[in-house]
Amino acid sequence: MSALDSREAPFDLVIRNADVATASDRFHSDIGVKDGVIVALGRNLPAAPREIDATGLLALPGGVDGHVHLDQPMPDGMRMADDFYTGTRAAVCGGTTTVIPFAAQVKGGSLRDAVSDYHRRAEGKAVVDYGFHLIVADPTPKVLAEELPQLISEGYTSFKIYMTYDDLKLSDREILEVLSVAREHQALVMVHAENSDCIAWLTDKLVGQGRIAPKFHGLARPAAVEREATHRAITFSELVDVPILIVHVSGKEAISQIRWAQGRGLPILAETCPQYLYLTADDLGRPGDDGYEGAKCVCSPPPRDADNQDAVWRALKQGVFSVFSSDHAPFNYDDPEGKKLGGKAQSFDHIPNGIPGIETRMPLLFDGVRRGKLSLHQFVELTSYRPAQLYGLYPRKGTIAIGADADIVLWNPEARVKINNDALHHAVDYTPYEGIEVTGWPVHCLSRGELLVSHGRYLDPEPGRGRFLPAGAPSLV
Ligand code: URP
Ligand code: ZN
Ligand code: ZN
Repeated sequence: MSALDSREAPFDLVIRNADVATASDRFHSDIGVKDGVIVALGRNLPAAPREIDATGLLALPGGVDGHVHLDQPMPDGMRMADDFYTGTRAAVCGGTTTVIPFAAQVKGGSLRDAVSDYHRRAEGKAVVDYGFHLIVADPTPKVLAEELPQLISEGYTSFKIYMTYDDLKLSDREILEVLSVAREHQALVMVHAENSDCIAWLTDKLVGQGRIAPKFHGLARPAAVEREATHRAITFSELVDVPILIVHVSGKEAISQIRWAQGRGLPILAETCPQYLYLTADDLGRPGDDGYEGAKCVCSPPPRDADNQDAVWRALKQGVFSVFSSDHAPFNYDDPEGKKLGGKAQSFDHIPNGIPGIETRMPLLFDGVRRGKLSLHQFVELTSYRPAQLYGLYPRKGTIAIGADADIVLWNPEARVKINNDALHHAVDYTPYEGIEVTGWPVHCLSRGELLVSHGRYLDPEPGRGRFLPAGAPSLV
């Protein structure tokens, strides 16, 4: 700290000796911050009232996690463990300074009401900035003609649609209608691609045979049902002539469809997540003390096998994926509102889908940089720059540049950390990545110039300091 008064200093904060890495550049620089914005990059910047020495650390743009579920209303009995406070606290402790959760329409309900309700859930709680995706579950003529165009113009420029889950799924015809609105109003549609009828048929057969343990979740949702739905979604995108983003791609079958489409010049974007790099179907069979621990890894699409993990790593390196998100879906394990719904083990088809990962997303991918699986620039592109672009937040977020928000993570690329749920900051009672050792962890994290994590310690910022970010049009180039 210097004794300078902030009124006379050109900066409120200077980060010294940073090894700055963005999606495209790497340079040594000081970073000057004023009013929460980066205003100077250069050597030997003048002194500021607050200074941070970044010697030996990487300075990365704060992560943008473009796929998280926080305090999302659930069907009866289930409840997410993280609200906007605990979820964003965990995010920033893992290097993520912007999150984009989902405001979900219920069938028969209005999209506008879902957005209003979701704002109420975030206000006074979020500690980092946030945008919203919409989930379109009931595309009535009014939703398509009025609500959706109006909401897009107000800064909700991306929405997710589902090809599975009874309470969310759309028919093929409805998907085409939603894609048409996206085309007309320049929004980006994210697609959950799994074939609903195939899953229902397989589930009925398995349950009828008494095969109800968590490991059968994987057999009910084989790669073929993801591959088929991925191909179908690509066809819809081609028919309507609009980009789509296939979310949470689990392995080589879906990747082959995406490569095929991209090779034909179709605007197919894709996302993958840590679970497809670090978990396999064997984890769904973890016995644990109660024979049910595999429930901790139940997510959809399910994790596959080591060969598929390799395929996902390769596709990351080759640029098949644009974004790497957590798909943080925080359900407690030992909890009547979580994986042990009603307080007891469930048949696999009743286990709430989704796993926590908002804090571990960036370290788990960064470990791949160390192992030569992808470059540092690709890491920044996948975790920050591209999500900011696609979700209409760039250049305010996603880079270290003059004029960008001072959302900066000072990262120790040498820190060795064994992931341990007790040290994480979410409100979930487990992590599926327990015991995995990674190299690279955030040391200091700043959001709009405010230090929220210092020397790895969460500084307890004011809940509600996080701001809603209306999104601009997706930038697809
Ligand atoms: O299993 C998952 N992925 N749950 C979260 C909801 C979703 O489909 O992304
Ligand atoms: Zn999904
Ligand atoms: Zn999700």
